[in-house]
Amino acid sequence: MTEFATRVENVSISGIREVFEAAGDEAINLGIGQPDFPTPAHARRAAVEAIESGQTDAYTSNKGIPQLREAIAAKYDRDYGIEVDPGNTIATSGGSEALHLALEAHVDPNQEVIFPDPGFVSYDALTRIAGGTPKPVSLRDDLTLDPAAVEDAITEETAVFIVNSPANPTGAVQSEADMREFARIADEHDVLCISDEVYEHIVFEGEHHSPLKFAETDNVVVVSACSKTYSMTGWRLGWLVGSGDRIDRMLRVHQYAQACASAPAQFAAEAALTGPQEPVAEMVGAFEERRDVVVDGLEDAGLEVPTPSGAFYAMPKVPEGWCDEVLDRGVVAVPGEAFGSNGEGYARLSYATGMEELKAALEIIDSATAAVR
Ligand SMILES: Cc1ncc(COP(=O)(O)O)c(C=O)c1O
Repeated sequence: MTEFATRVENVSISGIREVFEAAGDEAINLGIGQPDFPTPAHARRAAVEAIESGQTDAYTSNKGIPQLREAIAAKYDRDYGIEVDPGNTIATSGGSEALHLALEAHVDPNQEVIFPDPGFVSYDALTRIAGGTPKPVSLRDDLTLDPAAVEDAITEETAVFIVNSPANPTGAVQSEADMREFARIADEHDVLCISDEVYEHIVFEGEHHSPLKFAETDNVVVVSACSKTYSMTGWRLGWLVGSGDRIDRMLRVHQYAQACASAPAQFAAEAALTGPQEPVAEMVGAFEERRDVVVDGLEDAGLEVPTPSGAFYAMPKVPEGWCDEVLDRGVVAVPGEAFGSNGEGYARLSYATGMEELKAALEIIDSATAAVR
């Protein structure tokens, strides 16, 4: 009898799904990690035009259409003054595939992968799928990742450490000084830093800095995507940036697992990256307003919450039984332990939900918090 492979038996379906399934149809869902805005019209139109003119009927090059890879490279120059060769990029099926390729290409069985805890659910699961050993590290009180904690966790077996700023589930943004440190650690320890930058444009205070800018070796691989920045989660379009050698190895996995990213999505992504950026600014402005309302509401309810500087999540400390109580009253929040054992005692709230719903949810949270105190 064929048994299931250990690598799949070692992972389970994300705890986030379980909460959604437990929620009634009428519930206000603060569990969802996707913007509630439409994809910009010019991006949609570019896909439609590409489809109608027959440009999307065939496979594209494995790495993606040249004009998209040029747009990705140009974006790094425009946004951060980082020079990227379009040949050193791969268009992927979302940031998710990009993370998978980066880990598959760099992690041997039993090698260690360091990542933030609480952190995005895929880091632990994709590490196990690659045969690696997860090495979660705890966060500072402000929920940022301390470079010193990463450096302390590095051993002979470490293959990769993952940095995610702005972060899911915390909304925390790493400082420029931290990012310089992560680059130094990658250089000095000769360990790969995977920098997950899918929320790079959703920053309210300060600026996003990529360790790619500061590293002196090729030990940084960047993962990003159109998903969050352009509200394109359904299009499945992300990318990788890395050195020629690293891209070559990641491409081997991509070539056999995926062949190429979806062609219509590639045309939409090129338009999103090169077209007007106002829709991004509008969305980020709306998230910031909501962030303020959510943080005020949580504090008024008596909860302690570090002010998130980016993404669209807040992560308050909550009393025991809080997530069940708010769920019973019709609000979905994800228990912090879904993001790692250090997430226990916290909950993640997404504010990628309309203001009216958020205000209604905060009233429910206020009474639910009083009930479980
Ligand atoms: C931190 C982080 N990285 C990567 C991803 C994957 O993004 P995509 O939808 O582009 O696959 C997500 C999605 O929620 C995320 O939160």
